[in-house]
Amino acid sequence: MRYSLAFTAFAGLVAAAPSPQVFDFNLIQDAPSPTATAPPLTAVSDMITVSPAEASSAASAAVTAVQTGVAKMKRGAASSTGTATTSSTSSCPTTPEAGTYCGFINPEDACAKQPDGYGPVPTPDTVAAFQSYPEWAKDALSAKTPSGYAQTFKNLNASVSANSYLGLITLHSYDTLGCSQWCDNTTLCTGFNIYVERDPALNPSDNCPLPASISNYKCTLWGSGVEASAATNFGDYRGQFQVVIAGSDGYEKTNTTVPATPPGCSKPTKCPGGAVNNPSSCIGTQFFPGPFNVALCADYAKFTNLYNRMHSSSSSSFSSRRKPYPQCRSFNAYMIKRDGKAQGTYCSLFEDVVDAAVGRYQPGWMSRHFWGVESSCVVSLL
Ligand SMILES: *[C@@H]1O[C@H](CO)[C@@H](O)[C@H](O)[C@H]1NC(C)=O
Ligand SMILES: *[C@@H]1O[C@H](CO)[C@@H](O)[C@H](O)[C@H]1NC(C)=O
Ligand SMILES: *[C@@H]1O[C@H](CO)[C@@H](O)[C@H](O)[C@H]1NC(C)=O
Repeated sequence: MRYSLAFTAFAGLVAAAPSPQVFDFNLIQDAPSPTATAPPLTAVSDMITVSPAEASSAASAAVTAVQTGVAKMKRGAASSTGTATTSSTSSCPTTPEAGTYCGFINPEDACAKQPDGYGPVPTPDTVAAFQSYPEWAKDALSAKTPSGYAQTFKNLNASVSANSYLGLITLHSYDTLGCSQWCDNTTLCTGFNIYVERDPALNPSDNCPLPASISNYKCTLWGSGVEASAATNFGDYRGQFQVVIAGSDGYEKTNTTVPATPPGCSKPTKCPGGAVNNPSSCIGTQFFPGPFNVALCADYAKFTNLYNRMHSSSSSSFSSRRKPYPQCRSFNAYMIKRDGKAQGTYCSLFEDVVDAAVGRYQPGWMSRHFWGVESSCVVSLL
C-alpha cells in the first residue's frame, strides 16, 4: 500500500493566516487528520517515512529565486511538506521460502496463514483467556524502561491511536529495549507503545470463520509522547474473529529529546513548561496535523518572510522609517494534545527573538476539551 499526505499550500496558509492569536484551537478542530493514525488491522510491519527536507528545499528554492531576481511567485511551488508514507502489510524474509506466504501464499488470501505470532497461545484459546492470561500482565508490569525514556502507562487493554503515528514492528518477545531502538533510529520518534495482540492464525474467511489465534508482540512508534488517554484502540473484528489487546505499556522521551535543528535556524531551545505567550510580536500561527516536526514551522516562517517581502515590494509607499514588512525572527513550535491525544505541530511566528524561558503557557480546558502543550521549543532564524 502506498499513499501520500499533502498539506495545504504554504502560500494559502500565509494568505489565509488569521489575526495572530497565540493559541487558536479552531485551527486544530478544522484540520483534517493524517491518513494513518494507527497501524492497519492486518499489519505486522508498517513504516511512515517523513521527509521534511522536501519542504525545506521547496521553500528555500523559492527564497533563492527571489534573491536572485527571478521574482516569480509560484503558488504551488512550495505546496507540499513531503510527508510521504509507505506501508506494507506483511514482513518477508529476504529470500522467500517455499511454502511460506512470502514465496507462494498471499496472507490476504482466504484462510492464508498469517505472519509472525511469536508469543504463547493461552488455553483455552478464547478472548477471555487471552485477556486474563497472567503472562501478559507479568511482561507489561516487569518490563525494563529503556534508558532516556519514561514509562507513561502500563498493562492496559488498549493500544495507542493518534495523529502522530510513525510505524509498527512485530517483535519476537515483549522487548521494550528492542522497541526503543527502533524508535531511536526512526526520524521524529519520541514515544512507543508495546503490547500483545490476539490475532487469527489464518485469514478469517467463509471456510475458516473462527481460526485458532496467534499472539503478536507489537511495537508502534509515535512522533509525540504517549499517554494512557491515547490508548483507545481495544481491538476489532476480522470477520467473526475478535482481535483484542493486552499488556499495553507506553514509553516516551519527549522530556529528554531536543528536536533536530532545521536548516538555516538556531538549535531549538526547550521551553520550561509550555508555549510562548507573546501576542504583541506574533505575526502568524499555523497548525500541521501529524508527528511533531519543527522543520514544518521553519518552512512556514521562511515562506511567510518571503511572501511578506514580495507583497511589500509591490506597494512601496511606506515611509522610510517604517519597517518594510513584518519579518519573522524566531518561532515557537510545539506538539498540541487534545484530551491527551497528539494532534500535530503548532507554530507561532514572532518578530522578536523570544527567550525560551518565557514558554510556560498551557491552554488547559477550552471548548470542552483539555489542550496540552508538549515538546515546546524556540528557534531563531539565522
Ligand atoms: C479494558 O479494561 C477496562 C478496565 O479494566 C474494562 O472496563 C474494559 O471492559 C476492558 N475492555 C476490553 C475490550 O477488554
Ligand atoms: C533500527 O534498529 C533496529 C533494532 O535495533 C534494527 O534492527 C534496524 O536495522 C535499525 N534500522 C536502521 C535503519 O538503523
Ligand atoms: C515531562 O515534563 C513535564 C513538565 O515538567 C512533566 O509535567 C511531565 O510529567 C514529564 N513527563 C514525564 C513522562 O516525565
